[in-house]
Amino acid sequence: MDSKIQTPTGMEDILEEEWVFYEMIEKKAKEILKFYNFERIETPILEKKELFLAGIGERSEVIQKEMFTLKTEGETELSLRPEGTVPICRAYIQRGMKEKSQPVKLWYFGPFFRHERPQAGRYRQFWQLGLEILGSKDPVLDAEVIQIFYQILKELKIEDILIHVNCLGDKNCRPYYKKSLTQYFKNKEKSLCKDCQRRLKENVLRILDCKDEKCQRIVSGAPQILDYLCEECKKFFEEFLEYLESISIPYQLNPYLVRGLDYYTKTVFEIFESGEKKLALAGGGRYDDLIEILSKQSVPGTGGAMGVERLIEILKKKIKIPKEKKFLYLACLGKNAKAKALEILEILRKEKIECYFGLGKESLKSQLKLAEKFKVKFCLILGQKEVLENSIILKDMETGLQSTMKIKEAIKKLKQLIKKIQKT
Ligand code: HAM
Repeated sequence: MDSKIQTPTGMEDILEEEWVFYEMIEKKAKEILKFYNFERIETPILEKKELFLAGIGERSEVIQKEMFTLKTEGETELSLRPEGTVPICRAYIQRGMKEKSQPVKLWYFGPFFRHERPQAGRYRQFWQLGLEILGSKDPVLDAEVIQIFYQILKELKIEDILIHVNCLGDKNCRPYYKKSLTQYFKNKEKSLCKDCQRRLKENVLRILDCKDEKCQRIVSGAPQILDYLCEECKKFFEEFLEYLESISIPYQLNPYLVRGLDYYTKTVFEIFESGEKKLALAGGGRYDDLIEILSKQSVPGTGGAMGVERLIEILKKKIKIPKEKKFLYLACLGKNAKAKALEILEILRKEKIECYFGLGKESLKSQLKLAEKFKVKFCLILGQKEVLENSIILKDMETGLQSTMKIKEAIKKLKQLIKKIQKT
């Protein structure tokens, strides 16, 4: 097909078959997050590029390789949001949310953009369900974030999951760990892949996340952050794990878990479907320094985001969406009947009688064929004669019997008939 008639690489149309799942996830999330006192927020799709540079970290892969950036004449560069945490922190500062009662709890559901190499489960436009809690240092909130994702998944019947957790320390203890890690990898530099040789100079923690088999073997003998944590971080992490245990969250300590975004401090986590360790369903953690980097105000934060397409992939295998069932078809013939049909449609809508209808189709035969295809039980038929008499034909599609009656009467009868069917 002509390439201009195709969506850009890694981006897809969302058709009705998919919307059903987006709506299902949004509905469940809304219900649970409302209970947990979260407020909904939607930030712009575009933000200033410098915001992401400052917030995510210039050396992160998201910034170096994955941002879609637009430049209009004479204007600052704007980037399609690659993630939601930095924009939410921007909104917190800009909207003076520090004045509200703390912590401020926000959630979002929408599209994000990363220029990644497209493959199964990795897209250039993807949706996230995200939540952020700003303004508290308490580790119970890190557990609350995980509890919420866990419950959303559980209620969507995805129960077989595994949660990897780790603590990345803070600006006091992490430098010691990074130093020790650099020393360890320096001795093995020649055996690392090209990317990791670069990471050794720029962002040594990222080596821990390398998918190359040889690098992974080297990583398995690397020093572990948990041995380098300062007292404060150690205490924080222990408390956080106690909360997870108290609510029976199935977690696993992964001392080499690091994240692709540089703003994390202390807790980090990733959620996987059990047995499927390749792609995370959700990820997140604490970011106590992020707002300070953006604005010099010190506001701690914690949160996480779930990949909606990855979740839908699993839901599709588990849930069969039943085909929509409507019992009625409204057929009409001729201009006057079409005009009357528009009027009748509104009556039916207000009476909550769902129907298919044939506006835009010329022949009555083709409309009745469609009614048969949809397997409706009844048909309302409106021709010129009926319009003049303010009447309508009600046809029982199973028996083929039909009778003409006043429109009001037909609606009343239909309501009774449909109620009867729904009861059986
Ligand atoms: P992230 O791990 O980069 O974290 O993304 C969160 C989730 O979004 C991933 O676990 C994955 O399911 C999904 N995801 C990411 N990239 C793609 C992609 N290219 N295609 C499909 N799905 C994808 C964040 O974005 C952080 N802002 C999360 C967070 C919130 N941390 C604290 N608060």
